[in-house]
Amino acid sequence: MLVLGVCSLKGGVGKTSVTLGLASAALERGVRTLVVDLDPQGDATMALGVRPIAGDVAGVLDEPGEASVRAATVPSSWADEGLDVLAGSERSALHDRLDDHDVDRLRFALSWVQAYDLVLVDCPPSLGGLTRTGLTACDRAMVVTEPGLFAVMAVGRAMRTIDELRRGPAVSLQPLGIAINRVRARSLEQAYRLEELQNLYGPLVLSPFVPERAALQQAQGAAQPVHAWPGAAAAELSRTFDQLLDRALRAPRR
Ligand SMILES: Nc1ncnc2c1ncn2[C@@H]1O[C@H](COP(=O)(O)OP(=O)(O)O)[C@@H](O)[C@H]1O
Ligand SMILES: [Mg+2]
Repeated sequence: MLVLGVCSLKGGVGKTSVTLGLASAALERGVRTLVVDLDPQGDATMALGVRPIAGDVAGVLDEPGEASVRAATVPSSWADEGLDVLAGSERSALHDRLDDHDVDRLRFALSWVQAYDLVLVDCPPSLGGLTRTGLTACDRAMVVTEPGLFAVMAVGRAMRTIDELRRGPAVSLQPLGIAINRVRARSLEQAYRLEELQNLYGPLVLSPFVPERAALQQAQGAAQPVHAWPGAAAAELSRTFDQLLDRALRAPRR
């Protein structure tokens, strides 16, 4: 099992979109996957077509154990089997404290999770306790950014946080790389930022870049996997996420 965290310190750069794209690629390939929705906004839970159930991730963080994990795990409506969600909850915000007391709660909870090849942790847009808790449970972290000035600066802070967690509670965490999202072919400003990212982070910059395409929002709005969405743009996005998933799965597993 590979536990992959998808994070950034900024909102709206595409963490949830990348998580959903990877989940779609994994489903297509028969990689048994659990998406952990750590963002109190619950966007991933909604886009994965999950109906409310008894438990949620806040309950897991309150009392990590087999019972709370089971109560919070629900199949995605994307398929009959092969893709489950640890449902998100507004109440998980209560666990966004900045001290690292309890930071290993998700890691502990995931020791009861065995039926998956891949666990994707969709993190909230902060450096707070929830993201730290998420990354402490992970083997690899994928930092998502757009090729814009502020997002590029936030990558530096995210990479430093990963480094700091590695020396602390996150005993198995390693950076997988930086996924670049919402790339437009003809933007000079973006081309400049892409070059800057490549100069700064070299091989950590993951390829291919994820293009900006309305089809991604359309599939999300319809609670459908992008691999099932019609059209050339969705096919291009699907190939992109296939390759990013390949890269992630090349990381050593537990
Ligand atoms: N590559 C893309 N092309 C088009 N829209 C995108 C793309 N990536 C993200 N979006 C849209 O941008 C918004 C923010 O993305 P989201 O994945 O929710 O970011 P985050 O999880 O980092 O806050 C969403 O409405 C999403 O559909
Ligand atoms: Mg999100």
